[in-house]
Amino acid sequence: QWSGADAVCVQGVEAGGHQGTHRDDPATDAAGIGLLSLVAQVREAVQLPVIAAGGLMRGGQIAGVLAAGADAAQLGTAFLVCPESGAHALHKQAMTNPLFVRTELTRAFSGRPARGLVNRFMREHGPYAPPAYPEVHHLTSGLRKAAAKVGDAQGMALWAGQGHRMARELPAGQLVEVLNGELEATRASLMPGLGNAS
Ligand SMILES: Cc1cc2nc3c(=O)[nH]c(=O)nc-3n(C[C@H](O)[C@H](O)[C@H](O)COP(=O)(O)O)c2cc1C
Repeated sequence: QWSGADAVCVQGVEAGGHQGTHRDDPATDAAGIGLLSLVAQVREAVQLPVIAAGGLMRGGQIAGVLAAGADAAQLGTAFLVCPESGAHALHKQAMTNPLFVRTELTRAFSGRPARGLVNRFMREHGPYAPPAYPEVHHLTSGLRKAAAKVGDAQGMALWAGQGHRMARELPAGQLVEVLNGELEATRASLMPGLGNAS
């Protein structure tokens, strides 16, 4: 019935990087649905386990999507600044640099809608970028590599979700522990009678 899928990843419009969409009308790119709304809708339509992604940076938010019907949460941007992450150093720094105040969905780098920090490349090429993946990806590949080589963050694809400013530079394992602690604290504050017995 579900084409062999074991679970469904539900990606809200807040998510960093490429959006899991095959729409090819740039005019509707910004019309994506927020994660909390999307999880609730998918929960009622699909019986498979639901994995929620998009803009999640704190354990309290994870508690929120679990309460909304998700079975698990997936975080991307939160781990991008971890020492284990292979992201370019400039990309990592840009996440919490006040120079980059917001994200946008753009087709400027690849031809498919993807969320990243607004920089010069995005401002200059986003407005007319065609829905042509992977052609645009190949077209801009050399430019992005050259920008990274000379340390020009304004010419790189700085993929980031809407929660980027809340990124914490911790080793990945430690970040998971912190998130788990926040999740448990939120659960305990919402349901004081059901806290851990320990
Ligand atoms: C740097 C970066 C690269 C990503 N690359 C991919 C990818 O190759 N394929 C994919 O399905 N999703 C990719 N994503 C999206 C994630 O799967 C996920 O939907 C997203 O990170 C969740 O939102 P968040 O970044 O706000 O936590 C990427 C996200 C980031 C931040």
